[in-house]
Order: sequence, then structure tokens, then C-alpha cells
Amino acid sequence: MKKKLKLGLFGFGCVGQGLYHVLHETHGVKAEIKKICVKNQSKSRPIADSFFTYKKEDILNDADIDVVVELIDDANAAFEIVKTSLEHGKAVVTANKKMLAEHLEEIYELQKKHNRPVLYEGSVCGSIPVLRNLEEYYDNDLLQSIEGIFNGSTNYILTKVFEERKNYDEALKQAQELGFAESDPSLDVKAFDPKYKLTIAILHTFGVFVKPEDVINIGIDKIAEVDLKYARENGYTIKLIAQARKIGDKVYGFVAPQYIEATNPLASVRNEYNAVQLEGAFAEKQLFVGKGAGSYPTGSAVLSDISALTYDYSYEYKKISQERQVFFSNDALVEAVVSFKGEDIVTSKEFEKFEGGYRGNGYQFLRGTVKLEKLREWSANPEVSVILTTTSKITPLQPVDKKALSFA
Ligand code: HSE
Repeated sequence: MKKKLKLGLFGFGCVGQGLYHVLHETHGVKAEIKKICVKNQSKSRPIADSFFTYKKEDILNDADIDVVVELIDDANAAFEIVKTSLEHGKAVVTANKKMLAEHLEEIYELQKKHNRPVLYEGSVCGSIPVLRNLEEYYDNDLLQSIEGIFNGSTNYILTKVFEERKNYDEALKQAQELGFAESDPSLDVKAFDPKYKLTIAILHTFGVFVKPEDVINIGIDKIAEVDLKYARENGYTIKLIAQARKIGDKVYGFVAPQYIEATNPLASVRNEYNAVQLEGAFAEKQLFVGKGAGSYPTGSAVLSDISALTYDYSYEYKKISQERQVFFSNDALVEAVVSFKGEDIVTSKEFEKFEGGYRGNGYQFLRGTVKLEKLREWSANPEVSVILTTTSKITPLQPVDKKALSFA
């Protein structure tokens, strides 16, 4: 028998208002909002004043509230809310990917300690059901990789830049106006946001806790007109791809722009849509596509978590106990094209295997196989654009321990 849940919301921005709307339009989810805690007292709001409070205790100390829905921007304050809510015996729903990625292990332990769940489907790829799928449907297949488009704003920008020849700043402004971008849009364009999402996905795919600072993220902010021209001339598009792969007892993962051939299914994932491609040993490749950003799509993922709590769902983190011990590593090779203006900012000697280059319009393009750590070094240079090749694969630097392969 489903129970009717009383909700206390923190935050009433883009996602909070989206949740309010989808909750009221959806029949059959036994939940109602009791209070909403917001910061700004002078802002006018689209619903009755009686819903709002400015004191967090009005939610945290209200024994009548079963579920805290945390939808604020500030990751540190969000973690305090999650911690206190669990201590007060409340379940939590959150979509705060930065907070989750930075505190995953603590949140895992806190759930066990207080025996209360934290659900966060809305934190990874908006409306696409990723985490519960990984936990439940994929609990019996040996997952080898997860990859895809994990950020709506940058996909929107790249779509507008490629298809409508909009300039980058104009496309970013639109992504902000449509409510896709983070309050600090550098989190999107410098690929921190998809890196946080990948960090969370790695835990539910492979059972590995990884610190977000260990995951290399290369954004789209240095993609130059010459890179777009190179892509167009070759019939490619460019997408910001998050990817993680388990090889032997290691998991490799990073976020970087990649040239994508027109025949690749990811090429047709446009605007704020996201895509998640899973590869299992037996199911092989499966692709999920859906809106990855925006008020209602993210609100619907949050609602789905609330609905799951009405039947006492919690993540079991099955992969942690199922997997043999695996470790995160950046000791791998990938294939990339680097471009830069002027002379020898990057040299062919820095590649493990140099495949060639050319000069044009005052720019140099160099292509070859490089260490992931080299990509990190280049990406820190504001003069250098790094884009993975269409066929780039993760190749471990160390020989793979065959005994550690999940299947052989
Ligand atoms: N800024 C994020 C994006 C919002 O563009 O994907 C959804 O997580």
C-alpha cells in the first residue's frame, strides 16, 4: 500500500518550480509539498506565500515531513541539508550533482548509518532513467562501458554553432535563458558538470568511488572556428562526450570533446538532449536518449524519485558488492587532434605515436596517440584546443591482468 508523503523543498528555482508543476499535473503520485525553504525574501513567487519559509529548521525539525527535496545551487549548503535531514530520520531526494560527486562515499555511509535513503536520479542526464536502470535492470550483466552526452547546455551550444552557425556566446546566452545552464555556466562549458555526472554514474556502473578531481575534464570553450571547419570538411560534428570503461581491474573515465561521424547515433542527439550508451558483456550496446536539462524534464526525474520513495525504494549499490575490487586510473592512451595558433606550443614529440599534422590559416593541427595525463596538461593551456578523434579508444598503458577480466 502506497503511503502519502509530505515533502519539504529546499530551493524554488528552475528545477523546484518544474517539480511543483509536474507534481500537480501527475495523478497517482501520493505526495504533497508542505513547505518550501528559500533564501531570497524579496522575490515574488508564482504560488501562495503560505508555502514558503526562510528558516531551514521549519523543514528539518518538522516531524510531519517525511522527505526533504534538496534543489539548491550551493553544494556545501546542500550537503549540510542532506546530512541533517538523514540525522533527523528523513529520506532525501536531490539533483545536486556537484554535491553528490564530492560527497558520494560519505552519503553512502550516512544512508547506512541512519537507515534512510538518498535518491538522485535527476542528477545524471535529467529525464533519462540512468541510475535505477543501472541498479536494477543492469544488476545481472557485466557492464563494460558507459558513455554519452551528459550535458544539455553544451550540446545545445554545439548544435546551434554547427547547424545555425550561431556564435558561441549567443548560443550560450540562449542556453542560459532557457534554464539549461548552471548559474555559473563555466561548470557546463569547461565540462565540470558532466564530470560530476560521470563520477556518480561510475559508482552505479562499476561500484567504484572516484574523486571528481581525479577525472579529467576538457570543455568546449577552446573549440575554435578552425576546429569547426575541420569537422565540417570531414563530415563530422563535435560532441562533448563523457566516457568510462572497465578494462581488467581498472576503470578509466574522462570528459572531452570528440569528433563524431554522421553515422554515429550520438550525431543525431541535438540541442538539450542527452544520451547514455551502455555496453554490457551480453546485452551489448544500448542507447538511451532524452532531455538532459530544463525545468520539467529534471522535475520529472525528481518526481520519479519521490514516487519511488512511496514504495520504500533505496539504492542498494549492488555493484560495490558484486564487482571484484576495481580501481580508477588515468594510465591510458587515447587518440586526439590538438590545434593551436602559432609555433610549437605542442610538439610531435609529446605524442606516444604521432600520426601527422598540417598547417592552415595560421593554425597547426597535430594528430596522434597520447597519454590521458598529457591531455590534462594541454587542456590547462588556454592556447590549445583538444578534440578526440572519431575512432579514439581507451588503451591501458599497463598490460591488462587477464585474471582480473570479468569474463574471458
Ligand atoms: N547545466 C546542466 C546541463 C543542467 O546543461 O546539462 C542539467 O544537469
